[in-house]
Amino acid sequence: MAQNKLIVSNWKMNLNLSESKKLIHKLTKSTLKKKHYLKKIICPQFLLIPNISSIIKDTNLVLGAQNCHYEKEGAFTGESSIELLKSFNCKYIILGHSERRLFTADSNSLVRKKIKIALSTKIKPIVCIGEPLEFRKNKDYLKFLDKQLNECIPECNEIIVAYEPIWSIGTGLVPKFEEIFEIQNYIKNFLKKKKFIKKISVLYGGSVSSNNIVNIIEESEVDGALIGGASLVEKEILKIISIL
Ligand code: PGA
Repeated sequence: MAQNKLIVSNWKMNLNLSESKKLIHKLTKSTLKKKHYLKKIICPQFLLIPNISSIIKDTNLVLGAQNCHYEKEGAFTGESSIELLKSFNCKYIILGHSERRLFTADSNSLVRKKIKIALSTKIKPIVCIGEPLEFRKNKDYLKFLDKQLNECIPECNEIIVAYEPIWSIGTGLVPKFEEIFEIQNYIKNFLKKKKFIKKISVLYGGSVSSNNIVNIIEESEVDGALIGGASLVEKEILKIISIL
């Protein structure tokens, strides 16, 4: 596994301050430090960001966020701005996650605006796309993904896309490796041709665990993984990092 890979921990709305400190301490153990080809990105809840930002300051962990508003500042009660995230040294941001699309109605056009403001502050967006099960069953999944890619992603120089089939998130179901390969290839070709993007990384997300990570990365040729449930379990995330 010599090529650079991104391992993104999406903690979602989990872990309190002491639990996250404990997990970070384990993740920064010396034995895990040597893997320069692995970029380990931690995306905690908003309220944990200031603490975690200072805890990981001199480590090889990188900070990411799970959302932002599309405006710089203003009368948007309950929202958080990209500038504030930047001030805490956030380098990445997950945008368009299917849970946000479902629970807070993040539409393709809203995701696009968020991507634009993230790019303008040099925070790298990790843009989530993925089809519901019926589109996979009806073999209409490429049409669904096309629309998401087209409407969400602006023309830019560099983008990270996480392919996360909705039916795979938190279910234990994972597409066949050749199916993930097909999609990562499709995303790269689509974005090169339609959006003229030169540097495209594609991650896979959905029920990633220590049992499937190596095969997913090697056989599907993705550039890394976006990991939810397994990123919260100390043994699992340590194993994932150690076997890559
Ligand atoms: P999961 O979640 O690994 O628990 O399936 C992935 C995600 O939602 O990003």
